[in-house]
Amino acid sequence: MNSSLNLLNIACIGCGVIGAGWIARFIENGVNVSIFDPGPKAELNVKRTLENAETAYANLTSIPRIKKGTISFKKSINEAVKNVDLIIESVPERVDIKQKVYSEIEQYCDKSTLITSSTSGIMPSELQKNLKSPDRFYVGHPFNPVYLLPLVEIVGGRNTSKATISRAKSIYKQIGMHPVHIKKEIDAFVADRLLEAIWRESLWLIKDGICTTAELDDIVRFGFGLRYAQMGVFDTYRVAGGDAGMRHFMAQFGPCLKWPWTKLMNVPEFNAELVELISSQSDEQSGHLNIREMERLRDSNLIEILKGLKKNNWGAGKNLRDYEASLKAFNDKNTSTTNMESNTIKTLKTRVPSDWVDYNGHMNEARYLDCFCEATDQFMKIIGCDADYVKKGGSYFTVETHIRHMAETKIGESLSIETQLISGTGKKMHLFHTMRNSSNVITATGEHMLIHVSLKTRSASEPSSNILKNLSTIFNRHSKLPWPKGLGNAINNPKPDQSFKE
Ligand SMILES: NC(=O)c1ccc[n+]([C@@H]2O[C@H](COP(=O)([O-])OP(=O)(O)OC[C@H]3O[C@@H](n4cnc5c(N)ncnc54)[C@H](O)[C@@H]3O)[C@@H](O)[C@H]2O)c1
Repeated sequence: MNSSLNLLNIACIGCGVIGAGWIARFIENGVNVSIFDPGPKAELNVKRTLENAETAYANLTSIPRIKKGTISFKKSINEAVKNVDLIIESVPERVDIKQKVYSEIEQYCDKSTLITSSTSGIMPSELQKNLKSPDRFYVGHPFNPVYLLPLVEIVGGRNTSKATISRAKSIYKQIGMHPVHIKKEIDAFVADRLLEAIWRESLWLIKDGICTTAELDDIVRFGFGLRYAQMGVFDTYRVAGGDAGMRHFMAQFGPCLKWPWTKLMNVPEFNAELVELISSQSDEQSGHLNIREMERLRDSNLIEILKGLKKNNWGAGKNLRDYEASLKAFNDKNTSTTNMESNTIKTLKTRVPSDWVDYNGHMNEARYLDCFCEATDQFMKIIGCDADYVKKGGSYFTVETHIRHMAETKIGESLSIETQLISGTGKKMHLFHTMRNSSNVITATGEHMLIHVSLKTRSASEPSSNILKNLSTIFNRHSKLPWPKGLGNAINNPKPDQSFKE
């Protein structure tokens, strides 16, 4: 149990898409959840969502987490809502069903228990109107998947107390969420108003044959969707206004409000009062940063988002991956892989991005290992241990590594690695990588001992005859080279400090 979370037990009434998401978020944060849902697929749905959430949380953070809460399915609302601190209703979006559920809840729950609805847009005043204690009722509107997306819109009705809103905010903060209190009740609240505007405009664009659903989705995910994830609507336009910021942006684009750029032609009057309202709030929001700082933050955020998407080979990330592959193919075509002077093999060319640099202002040691691993992978491909070979069940595993750090490497520096084969007979392969910067200074060396393995038995095995032949050809050249300086400094050369012996 999270010692700071003053909440032990909650109830979830309705566990479809959203209810199951809430259950996952709460049990992952140590809270016990009792559940009521008469639907035939409820238990299976919860099980699947909990599995997804478990994988998600394991990948989201490496910080050890608190002990999970428990779940228990109950046969009635009566059984589910006894002795709980919070009751979350996530039943279908119909006022009559929701109000019926509340009247039953109120019969059986404690007087102090908070009651909340996940409704996407029904006003809380409407939902709470038949409650005996409406002060403890509010809307907590989440976003799918609830266990991952932090936003929850909190909306009180006419009779919701201030204490209820403040208690709700504190609960969501303690389970890793970002509550935003919507102070004026309005149909569909804020998020769904924005989403509805995009949804309605999208339907027109498809219906009028302007673009297909796939093209429209690409327009969102390759462009402004990426910006919205990190700076929202107003900060994005503040930066777009350049040094003059939001006032300039509004002066430039304000008059288009009257142009037929959307089907939503009911627009606020563009006047000095509107410009002042928006600009002064924008100044309050981000006036502490100048536009250059905001641009740099935006770029850095976008880079991290694009890299994250690249890992999943998805959307704009796939685009980046394809772009990198074409750059690499161009480089490979225009660079000989063999250094004629030293006869070693060029296995990597790279530049140091900003996130490789640590608090000392130089490349972090883990990144040297990344580079040497890439160089080894490239060498493996050259000798025939490529993706097809691995698919057939053979590969090399690294059994020992030794890295020597010899010169500092800073952001933006170009690095290249040359690889010398030290030995490559039988199951063993011994590689020595030399990393240089653009001034030809050796910045590091990496020595790897690898063993060929069968991926079926996960134990040592002979490589294919083709690999052995390629290794032998390379070895014939490389064995004529002098041994690199630093070779064997650690591998197979232990020098324990005798002075520590008892
Ligand atoms: N799906 C979304 O993206 C989303 C996002 C935010 C909020 N919401 C809101 O969350 C609520 C639930 O939506 P959902 O998408 O999870 O719907 P859903 O259809 O997936 O789930 C509704 C669940 O309620 C159960 N149910 C029906 N009557 C019940 C009753 N009397 N008592 C207990 N359980 C009952 C059903 O068996 C079902 O499992 C709605 O108010 C919706 O507007 C949905």
